[in-house]
Amino acid sequence: MAVPKDCPAPDVVRSAYAQLAVTDLAASRWFWVDMLGFHVQCETKDALHLRGTDELTHHSLVLRQNDVAALDHISYRVRTPEDVERAARYFDALGCPVRRVPAGKGTNGVGDAVRVVDPLGFPVEFFYEIERAERLIQRYDLHRGAQIARLDHFNICTPDIPAAYEHYRGLGFGCSETIEGDEHELYAAWMFRKQTVHDVAFTGGAGPQLHHVGVATHESHQVLRTADIFGALHAEHHIERGPGRHGVSNAFYVYLRDPDGHRVEIYTSDYYTGDPDHETYRWNVHDDRRRDFWGNAVIESWYKEASPVLDLDGVPQPISATILDESAVKVGADGLG
Ligand SMILES: [Fe+2]
Repeated sequence: MAVPKDCPAPDVVRSAYAQLAVTDLAASRWFWVDMLGFHVQCETKDALHLRGTDELTHHSLVLRQNDVAALDHISYRVRTPEDVERAARYFDALGCPVRRVPAGKGTNGVGDAVRVVDPLGFPVEFFYEIERAERLIQRYDLHRGAQIARLDHFNICTPDIPAAYEHYRGLGFGCSETIEGDEHELYAAWMFRKQTVHDVAFTGGAGPQLHHVGVATHESHQVLRTADIFGALHAEHHIERGPGRHGVSNAFYVYLRDPDGHRVEIYTSDYYTGDPDHETYRWNVHDDRRRDFWGNAVIESWYKEASPVLDLDGVPQPISATILDESAVKVGADGLG
């Protein structure tokens, strides 16, 4: 889909929050608050607004009680109030559904926002204004569980990775890393606005679906501690993959599934990408270090399972099969990093 002429893209600052629909708020609270250590900033009858210790804004994760588990929307913060209206005009010019959500009518704590269904079929919000919150980084007395510092990124399953790459390039995102075939066909890409490896990544798979939300800790021992706590409570079935070291991003990681099956990655130790001539690092799809630097195989559920996404009226979006299937690629030692 072409970038509209004379219709500048909004200036996106960073991935800001995800809003997940969950079917049992008490069970979700156990997972995200008691086990992962998210702080409850605001609690209503049917929603929890959560944030990490590094976050000075109202929330980075919202859990909303619903009959169906799904992604309500991912949300990006933009640089100025004018960029909110710029987002509305940009997606309207792309022919996408666009809805203006005034302050007080949408998610608690967020000012005027625009919600769209983007060309990839994802519900995406753009906002500038959000309530500020107390600094917790040195409130060590409040740090619990995985000691989550902040939201880091969204990972989305989309059947057509080149289309996703082009769409996010149009929004001004840089590309830190890719996974490519021998003919440079694109299997996956990591794209950023803030100066880290990514704000959003694309995993090939049936989509549109949410693959995972990535949340950052400060230190790798917190990733190990998270796995130890789930093991100690005989809740090890929530651990899906890892802990391990990614080739892509260099991050130390573990993937968990929440009580509804929503996937979260606990993530730390990626790198700076802010120089203007930062070059994309390209992994060959046959290099079995790309997804785990130590060569541990990726389990099937990680490639095949993901969360459905809702449209602007709360209806699950239909999904299409992937074009390129990375899970079917034979790994071996012939690939180069
Ligand atoms: Fe991730």
